[in-house]
Amino acid sequence: MVLRSRFFRAHFVISVLLLLVISITNGSDGDIFCLKSIQNSLEDPNNYLKSSWNFNNQTAGFICHFTGVQCWHDDENRVLNLKLSNMGLKGQFPRAIQNCSSLTALDLSINKLSGTIPADIDKLLGFVVTLDLSSNDFSGEIPGGLANCSYINSLKLDQNHLTGQIPPQLAQLNRIKTFTVTNNLLTGPVPSFGGKEGITADSYSNNSGLCGGPLGPCGATKVNTAVIAGAAVGGITLAVLVLAVVAFFFVRRVSVKKEEDPEGNKWARSLKGTKGIKVSMFEKSVSKMKLSDLMKATNSFSKSNIIGSGRTGTMYKAVLDDGGTMFMVKRLQESQHSEKEFASEMATLGTVRHRNLVSLLGFCVAKQERLLVYKYMENGSLHDRLHPDTGGSTMEWSLRLKIAIGAAKGLAWLHHSCNPRIIHRNISSKCILLDADFEPKISDFGLARLMNPIDTHLSTFVNGEFGDLGYVAPEYTRTLVATPKGDVYSFGTVLLELMTGERPTDVAKAPETFKGNLVEWISTLSSKSELRDAVDESLLGKGVDSEIFQFLKVACNCVSPNPKERPTMFEVYQLLRAIGSRYNFTADDEILVPTDTGDAANFEELIVAREENS
Ligand SMILES: *[C@@H]1O[C@H](CO)[C@@H](O)[C@H](O)[C@H]1NC(C)=O
Ligand SMILES: *[C@@H]1O[C@H](CO)[C@@H](O)[C@H](O)[C@H]1NC(C)=O
Ligand SMILES: *[C@@H]1O[C@H](CO)[C@@H](O)[C@H](O)[C@H]1NC(C)=O
Ligand SMILES: *[C@@H]1O[C@H](CO)[C@@H](O)[C@H](O)[C@H]1NC(C)=O
Repeated sequence: MVLRSRFFRAHFVISVLLLLVISITNGSDGDIFCLKSIQNSLEDPNNYLKSSWNFNNQTAGFICHFTGVQCWHDDENRVLNLKLSNMGLKGQFPRAIQNCSSLTALDLSINKLSGTIPADIDKLLGFVVTLDLSSNDFSGEIPGGLANCSYINSLKLDQNHLTGQIPPQLAQLNRIKTFTVTNNLLTGPVPSFGGKEGITADSYSNNSGLCGGPLGPCGATKVNTAVIAGAAVGGITLAVLVLAVVAFFFVRRVSVKKEEDPEGNKWARSLKGTKGIKVSMFEKSVSKMKLSDLMKATNSFSKSNIIGSGRTGTMYKAVLDDGGTMFMVKRLQESQHSEKEFASEMATLGTVRHRNLVSLLGFCVAKQERLLVYKYMENGSLHDRLHPDTGGSTMEWSLRLKIAIGAAKGLAWLHHSCNPRIIHRNISSKCILLDADFEPKISDFGLARLMNPIDTHLSTFVNGEFGDLGYVAPEYTRTLVATPKGDVYSFGTVLLELMTGERPTDVAKAPETFKGNLVEWISTLSSKSELRDAVDESLLGKGVDSEIFQFLKVACNCVSPNPKERPTMFEVYQLLRAIGSRYNFTADDEILVPTDTGDAANFEELIVAREENS
């Protein structure tokens, strides 16, 4: 036990050091240098960059307000996206972009950039998800190095003067969904992307001599058929797109359903030989356990012990035969991380303690299975409370407000005070759990990272896997990158859910002709000044109407389509707390200081590590 915890502590320090290294090498100085160099290297005849990019007053996050710049956090000089489209910029591809080392999207479209696309572009844009260089004057060949930008989802090179063959290695980009090179001078066979829906003959039209893939076999005389096929496909692109979206949601729905009804516990029975494996516990106060204890406590992970399931895995209720101590055990969805990476991630999560977060007590790895042990939450999930199987919810306003405030506090802590900061990425009413006193606790934080196939400090989504339907920020379908503001959007949906009693996907109260989700319904009502109709009737007319409408305003700000207009989680918490001030839910305010850290020594080491580095 002691040895185990030493091991974790060492691991924890290593991961903290790593984080520090990342933040030193990727640090804000690099990003400031990056933008400054880009500004200097490009001709800017319309003074777009000169007028907006002012480097004289260097406050925290000052570059985040520059035209075209979007940061990871508004108060941190770390560039997430750079959009310099249609600015009349001239010059070569700005190599200094490599110093914006956390960049995930670059849009330089509709400018007059010339020269070649750098051969080592993968070294300049290692984490790029979206790259748009279309409508410029780039010439030469498309660099094969692009094949090493393995996070690329969308690559647009249309309307340039690119020549030669499209590198066949680009077929290795297994996340790619959009690829277009129309109106260039390209020749030869196209990469075999394997029939991806987003890559059709249309992606290749108006080139000198492309063939293969959707254009038909090379060597034959099929220029005309290619053009015809291109035109035909062009006509139905929209239909295909709509179908793709429908299919995507359908598949997701089916897969969610399948998960709610797993095939019993065959997987658990196959772990027979490994029952002696110890469960690593973070708290010395908790009794030692083995896998066999977890098995017994969960009835061999029987179906009847399932208390919830979602994107990250299935949660089981566990009752020890020591007199009834209860836990929750989560069986994680398949993860491609090694046992070592997993253990180090767990060591970090094990130290994350806050009144409004579900405590991770321990974990266990057996063969391919990864099991997490959590503190038991007596009152289940907010989702089940709000949407009981029979009848409507009977939750009073004060309880709903208490839950909103507590959950906001937990999430704000993850975003702003926790070290390392954690973006949840999957906030919904299902991950807000309630203890015996109905104190809300956020679960599942830190797990989204484990779902990603490759470990990076960036939080790119796995191939289009977003959070729960209805909670997903609209920009995620474009950027595929999780941000704190994305969490704020999801949290706003939860607030709407609390206030309306409606589910985020299908709104029971809306007219049958209405096909949108909860957020869309609210904005429809808002435009007609009928927001009162949205509120759960059981809450109205009880002297709290003004609180409800202030609450609604906060929720609406959170679900603003523009991420920049959404408040931060810290602001959300402060606003909600002000609305609920007369109830005295919590006297203390520990939000900016990590409290109840469980293992305080880790935090001391963290501070020491940081001081040694600065
Ligand atoms: C910019 O990036 C280059 C290459 O990675 C590096 O050598 C240089 O130190 C960086 N400059 C700054 C100011 O970070
Ligand atoms: C720098 O900018 C901040 C915020 O924009 C402002 O409050 C401050 O007064 C500025 N400082 C100087 C010296 O201009
Ligand atoms: C991708 O990166 C590897 C390792 O840096 C390198 O050996 C390889 O040549 C690169 N591939 C391309 C197509 O540039
Ligand atoms: C192909 O080129 C023609 C003539 O320049 C243009 O009218 C057409 O829009 C182009 N097609 C695409 C898909 O851009």
